[in-house]
Amino acid sequence: MTQVIKTIAEMRARVAAARVGGKIVGFVPTMGALHDGHISLIEAAVKRTDYVIVSIFVNPTQFGPGEDFHNYPRPFEKDLAICQKHDVDAIFAPSVNEMYPRETLAWVTVDNLTERLCGESRPGHFRGVATVCAKLFNIVHPDIAFFGQKDAQQAVIVWRMVADLSMPLKVVVCPTVREPDGLAMSSRNVYLSPEERKDAVRIYESLVRCQELIEAGERDTDVISGQMYEILKQMPGTKIDYVSICDAETLEELGQVQGRVLIAVAVRMKSVRLIDNILVDTPTQ
Ligand code: PAJ
Repeated sequence: MTQVIKTIAEMRARVAAARVGGKIVGFVPTMGALHDGHISLIEAAVKRTDYVIVSIFVNPTQFGPGEDFHNYPRPFEKDLAICQKHDVDAIFAPSVNEMYPRETLAWVTVDNLTERLCGESRPGHFRGVATVCAKLFNIVHPDIAFFGQKDAQQAVIVWRMVADLSMPLKVVVCPTVREPDGLAMSSRNVYLSPEERKDAVRIYESLVRCQELIEAGERDTDVISGQMYEILKQMPGTKIDYVSICDAETLEELGQVQGRVLIAVAVRMKSVRLIDNILVDTPTQ
């Protein structure tokens, strides 16, 4: 039976009880509207830990003005059924007031990493993400927290926050789950019109093309990103936010593909902004 927990005090008490029983605590932070991507994280947590907590909290501090905080999908009953089916022990679903009872003055900022890629067009977004993750980790006290590669920059930032602040948990990053045609699953895909849904497959196509070029020996990132742009430009009415070929740990842009490389794309369609990425390992010279 999945317990639904709404207060910080009760969440802490439940985790403490599980820990006394010697259980390893697994944690999957989400904003709900669960899909197969989230489920893959839940399955990884169920496999590796004994007491699995999923948080469902649409975090206002990571949304900018004019972003979709109020419209963000919140199908709680459906999410509960999914958690029940997948043997989640507890859902932590606090109210905004429970998490932010007063103006927030203490924030977690992660330098450099938060300013690049999505940080450029979403100022303050990753400060909100890092801060809510720190709060959730302080409430849930997980041994292992599970994140998706889908949000590559978020995973890097959370990993770095945990490492730099010596937080007592391990961060595990799980592969991106995709639709059969390659589109990365996202709670925001429900916003896509049928036309946009068809066009959206270009994002993954551009990443596959990039991988093929690297496998064929191409190392010049201008050449690679040029070809990716050609594919992405075939999406009518879509603005390309960025194509980035960067170091997977520092997120610094690369001139030449070398080592562990993140290739990340963000596009703005009429109804939604979509992101995707792949990781490629190449020998370092
Ligand atoms: P949300 O977008 O709900 O995503 C929750 C987790 O699911 C994240 O770690 C995300 O990377 C992962 N995820 C989403 N789509 C995925 C896919 N197609 N394949 C694999 N994993 C996927 O990310 C957030 O919420 C929030 O920023 C949060 C971390 C909860 C902080 O508020």
